[in-house]
Amino acid sequence: MPDASRVLLERLQVAFDTVRPGADPVLRVSDRADFQANGALPLAKELGRPPREIADQVVAAADLGDVCAEVEVSGPGFVNLTLSEAFIAEAVAALSADPRLGVPVASSPERLVIDYSAPNVAKEMHVGHLRSTLIGDALARVLGFLGHEVRRENHIGDWGTPFGMLIEHLLDVGGAEDAESFSVRDLNEFYATARRQFDSDPTFADRSRRRVVQLQGGDEETLNLWRIFVAESLRHAQEVYDMLGVLLTPDDVVGESFYNPLLPQVVSDLEEKGLLVEDDGALCVFPAGFENRKGEPLPLIVRKSDGGYGYPATDLAAVRDRTVRLGATRLVYVVGAEQTLHLQLVFAVALLAGYLVDEASAVHAGFGLVLGTDGKKLASRSGGSERLVDLLAEGVERAAAALKERESALSSDRQAEIAHALGIGAIKYADLSTERMRDYVFDWDRMLATEGNTGPYLQYAHARIRSIFRRGGVEAPAPGTPPLLTEPQERALALQLLGFAAAVEATVETLGPSKLCTYLFDLATTFTGFYEACRVLVDDEARRASRLGLCDVTARTLELGLSLLGIEAPEQM
Ligand code: ARG
Repeated sequence: MPDASRVLLERLQVAFDTVRPGADPVLRVSDRADFQANGALPLAKELGRPPREIADQVVAAADLGDVCAEVEVSGPGFVNLTLSEAFIAEAVAALSADPRLGVPVASSPERLVIDYSAPNVAKEMHVGHLRSTLIGDALARVLGFLGHEVRRENHIGDWGTPFGMLIEHLLDVGGAEDAESFSVRDLNEFYATARRQFDSDPTFADRSRRRVVQLQGGDEETLNLWRIFVAESLRHAQEVYDMLGVLLTPDDVVGESFYNPLLPQVVSDLEEKGLLVEDDGALCVFPAGFENRKGEPLPLIVRKSDGGYGYPATDLAAVRDRTVRLGATRLVYVVGAEQTLHLQLVFAVALLAGYLVDEASAVHAGFGLVLGTDGKKLASRSGGSERLVDLLAEGVERAAAALKERESALSSDRQAEIAHALGIGAIKYADLSTERMRDYVFDWDRMLATEGNTGPYLQYAHARIRSIFRRGGVEAPAPGTPPLLTEPQERALALQLLGFAAAVEATVETLGPSKLCTYLFDLATTFTGFYEACRVLVDDEARRASRLGLCDVTARTLELGLSLLGIEAPEQM
């Protein structure tokens, strides 16, 4: 059982149960000892007893002899726990023999839908889609690693009135004649031209409006034209996904249009439950607890007064499809924080409609903004939204330029691959290491730095450890060999290695990849401390094997951790 905190928690729980069954031990990592259990304090309040007395009772009842070298009550009633070297060494040995590095498989796997990326077609993906794409992808990887059945859904905006003018413009530029070879270099330009035409040419505007009606009426020829256009847009999005190395493929696309035929069913479900209220010709649901600033009840508009359906109705249909048809037990929406109210309304109505079992079955994993170095929402130099492909390409170029300044024996192909891993890794890590709800500044110099809490720092740390083996022509000891923990830096590194499972768990609990990033950064830093203090390739065979073992588990933890974040860890840099 490699995860030290799990073992401690189990043992402490038994001891706390003797005071009051089910009492939380409140276990924390501590710098006084290895861990601290603070549960005696709230318990003291609850039971009206002195906290130190409770702490003493817990210590007396706790069976920790094989785990701890020292257990001591301190301060008002904290229990300080210092693990024994033997326990740590055995736990690291178990870790080294475990390809999952101590991360258990979920005891009750769920079927999950993760809704992420979701650009609107007809526009280039811009930096506004970066966070959803990266956070969603990391969560999909971590949850999948735990054994959950993860279904990725890319809820693209592929339906609505702009498609009238886009289809007409497609016809004008001849895109319909040769659909196979139809391609748009820049979707934004295509959109802007169509828009200008719409605004200046009344005949074009007329055609466009008629086209919208045909599209909504399901006219087959119109649908074909629309498909050509959507396919071309998706090709652009897929280029971004491939460059980022995220898991999304065309198979994951379930766009707004998909739910179009399902909307009447939503209306009848809501009708049946008596939830629909007519308001100014629109069909609305007023879930309890939602009010506008004036204190008036806030509706979710299911059908507009003109008979059309909008974004909210589509999202209701999506919830229904995901839970009722696909049988998902949990839905995770990786969508910007500005859509919080929208999603809360959707979830509340879905709950009333019986699409969701309980409040926990749909969660909004929101996120903050990406800011420019000027502190404002990031936009391009030219004023429009930066095309994400260009931004990513710039990251790779910058990484390549930085690499050129270093001596390298690697082939130029290999260097190009490393530049890609570094540039993309830097962008991903800068995003993922920021606590989800916080904004962050997109700063090339900071994210590409090889020192500090950055992707490149972790990638270099990993490659450096691998090179110890390659250059020394040495191998790690057989898995399952306990390390010798004589030096404090050896002990500190071993203990840090044991925290991987807890970091993954915290990531899942908070749906926050930043937890894993923080852990990996701490691990790399702890490793540096170890490496500076302890020579690895010493003559003493047992010591050398022990230290190589610690190096090996560290490299594997960094590699697995980075891969769960969707970041490459090249062997050699
Ligand atoms: N396409 C939407 C937008 O760009 C995001 C969709 C997010 N997902 C959802 N199920 N609403 O704002």
